[in-house]
Amino acid sequence: MSELLSGWKRTKYCAEFSENEVGCEVTLMGWVNAYRDIGALLFITLRDRTGIMQITFDSSKLDGELFTRAQSVRNEFVLAVRGTLARRAKNMVNPNMKTGAYEVLACAFKILGAAKTPPIEIDGDMQSNEQMRLKYRYLDLRRAAMQQNLTLRHKIVHVTRNFFAGEGFLDIETPILTKSTPEGARDYLVPSRVHPGKFYALPQSPQQFKQLLMLAGFDRYMQIARCFRDEDLRADRQPEFTQIDLEMSFVEEDDVIEVNERFLARLFREIKGINIPLPLLRLTYDEAMARFGSDKPDTRFGLELVDISDIVADCGFSVFTGAIAAGGSVRAIRVPGGAAALSRKEIDKLSELVKTYGAKGLAWLHLNREGLQGSIAKFMDERLRMAIMAQTGASPGDTLFFVADKNSVVMASLGALRLELAKKLSLVPKGLYNLLWVTDFPLLEWDEDAGRYFAMHHPFTHPRDCDIDKLESDPGSVRAKAYDIVLNGTELGGGSIRIHSAALQERMFAALGFTKEEAWKRFGFLMEAFQYGTPPHGGLAYGLDRIVMLLTDSLSIRDVIAFPKVQTAACLMTNSPDTAEDRQLRELHIRPDCE
Ligand code: AMO
Ligand code: AMP
Repeated sequence: MSELLSGWKRTKYCAEFSENEVGCEVTLMGWVNAYRDIGALLFITLRDRTGIMQITFDSSKLDGELFTRAQSVRNEFVLAVRGTLARRAKNMVNPNMKTGAYEVLACAFKILGAAKTPPIEIDGDMQSNEQMRLKYRYLDLRRAAMQQNLTLRHKIVHVTRNFFAGEGFLDIETPILTKSTPEGARDYLVPSRVHPGKFYALPQSPQQFKQLLMLAGFDRYMQIARCFRDEDLRADRQPEFTQIDLEMSFVEEDDVIEVNERFLARLFREIKGINIPLPLLRLTYDEAMARFGSDKPDTRFGLELVDISDIVADCGFSVFTGAIAAGGSVRAIRVPGGAAALSRKEIDKLSELVKTYGAKGLAWLHLNREGLQGSIAKFMDERLRMAIMAQTGASPGDTLFFVADKNSVVMASLGALRLELAKKLSLVPKGLYNLLWVTDFPLLEWDEDAGRYFAMHHPFTHPRDCDIDKLESDPGSVRAKAYDIVLNGTELGGGSIRIHSAALQERMFAALGFTKEEAWKRFGFLMEAFQYGTPPHGGLAYGLDRIVMLLTDSLSIRDVIAFPKVQTAACLMTNSPDTAEDRQLRELHIRPDCE
C-alpha cells in the first residue's frame, strides 16, 4: 500500500544538490534506480528527471522497523526520503556521477508507490528490444537518455517560440479536423457522424490555413503544428509529427531565408553552444544534384560526382557511349586510396547497391601503380586514362566508380554510393554541423506511372517570374521560388514563396492535370480568397522531430517523440489502431464487417 505525502515537500531535484546544502535536512522524491544491501548498511540510488542521488540507510542509527522496511524496497519503487545531505568519504566519491561527492543519510522515508519487477531494464542498452521498450514506453521514458532527449526537445521549442515571438510572429492555431492538404502523402480520414458519407482529413500541414492567415492580415504567423501523413515510415518519418511552421507577408525568398538563418544560428548557439557562421551556403538544385547526386547533400566529406561524358562520348565502351547518345551522362566518383581500401567483394556489394537505384551496373577502376585493374580496364587506352584522371583529379592508388544512364538514375545511384562509401570508409567527421540551403527547385516533376506532373514542393509554390510563361509550353523546365534547409544530408525543412493570384493558381492546377472544376471543388475556398486582396507571402516549415533527432545525435525519430508509432503506424503501448464497436461504426455510417 502506498503512503500519502502528508505534507512532505521536495527540497530539490536529486542532481541539484551542492555544497550549499551539506549538513541540512533535505527531502527527495523519486524512483529507486538500484539498491545494495550490505547488512548493516543499505544504499539506494534515487532517480528523478535530473539524475540520481545516493541515499544511505544505517541500521545503527535508524529505528529497527524503519530499517527493515527500507530493506523491502525494490527497483522502481517511488519513495520520499528525508535525511541529511553529507559529503561522502573521499574513497567513496564517484567521479562518474554528478552528485557523486554527496549522499543523503536517511532518517525517514515513505513508500509512495510500490513497483512490480519492470519488464525492461531501465539502465539497459537503448537499442535492445525496441518492441518491448515501446510496449512499456512509460518505463522506457525513465531512461536518462530519453529524459535528456525530451528535455532538449522542450528547450528547442522554447527557444523557437521566443525567437519568433521576438521577431513579431503570432502563434495561431489551425484546425486538425479539416480538408485535404496535399503534401504528397495519403490523408488520414475521419468519418463524419453528422454528414453521412463525408470525411474530414487530418492536415498534412497547416499550409492553406497559414496562407489564409496572411490574407487575413496577420502578417507573420508561427505554430508548433501537429501534422499527419499516411506514408511509408522510415527512421526519420512518423505518421504524426510536429512542424515548426511559419509564414510571412510582403516578403521574397531572401527575406524568409534571412530570418530563418538567424533563427538557426540562435538555436545552435543556445542548444549546442556552437556558432554557425552566416550567411549559410546556398546551392541551386542543379548544382547540388551535379556535385552530390542529391537535393539534400551531405557536405561534410568529399567524393563529389564528376561528369566525364565529354571525354568518353566516343570511347569504345558501348554502355558509356549508348547512355550519352540517349541523352544521359556518364559520371564518376573518385575514392582517394580506394585501390588498397576496397576489395572485390566490397565492390560487388556496392554494385548491388547502385542497382537498387536503377543503375544497370557499376563500372570501376583501381588506378594501381603497376597498371589499371577493374571492370572497364580493357576499354582504357593511355589517352583516355590520362583524360579521365585529369578530369577527376585522380592519382595512382585511387579508385574510380562510374555510372552511365539517364541523368536521374546516374545522380540517384552515385548519390547513394557516395553516402555508402563515406560510411564504409569512415569519412564523416564527428561534431560538424553543415547547414545549407538548396534553392531553385524544379516546380514540377514528371511521374511516369501516373503519366502527369506532380508539384515538387506543393501546388501553392510560386514559379520563378522568368519561367511563368513556360508553365503550359514547357512545364518541366519551370523553376520554383522554393528552398530547403539541409543539415548533414537530412532535409530539416522546406518552404517557398506562394502563388497569390487566383489566375496563376488556376494555371498551376491545370499544369498538374486538374480540370478547372476539380480545382475549384477542392481548393475553391483558397482561390476565391485570393480575389479579396492578397499580399505576396511565403514561408517555411521545419520538421521539429528531425531537428531534435539531429541535435541529440539520435539514430531514430522514435527516440525524440514521447509516444511514437512503429513502422506499421501502430502504437504498441495503447494498441492503436483498434477495432471500433458496431454501434460506433453505424453512427458513422460505416457498415460493420465491411472488408
Ligand atoms: P514539407 O512537406 O517539406 O513542407 O515538410 C516540412 C518538413 O517536415 C518534416 N517532415 C516530417 N517529419 C517527420 N515525419 C514525417 N512523416 C515528415 N514529413 C515531413 C521534414 C520536412 O522538411 N507546408 C510545407 C512547408 C511550407 O511550404 O511552408 C510542408 O509541409 O523535416
Ligand atoms: P559488361 O561489359 O556488361 O561486362 O560490363 C562491364 C562493367 O560495366 C561491369 O562492371 C558492369 O557492372 C558495368 N556496367 C554495366 N552497365 C553499366 C552502366 N550503365 N553504368 C556503369 N557501369 C555499367
